[in-house]
Amino acid sequence: MTKDDLVCNCNEISRAEIIKAIKEKGLKTVEEVGEATTAGTVCGGCQEEIQEILDALNR
Ligand code: FES
Repeated sequence: MTKDDLVCNCNEISRAEIIKAIKEKGLKTVEEVGEATTAGTVCGGCQEEIQEILDALNR
């Protein structure tokens, strides 16, 4: 997997975009990531992966 893999296929949001938003805005939850990037706001299927990214960055 590369940093630019799409995490959210519905809205075409990449891992890199999500990581950037989390770091820049200090996001803590999947809901906040959804508000900031729209990732996870359509089918919800990527929310688990967003949570894993949050866990990895905010531990
Ligand atoms: S893949 Fe992210 S909302 Fe559907």
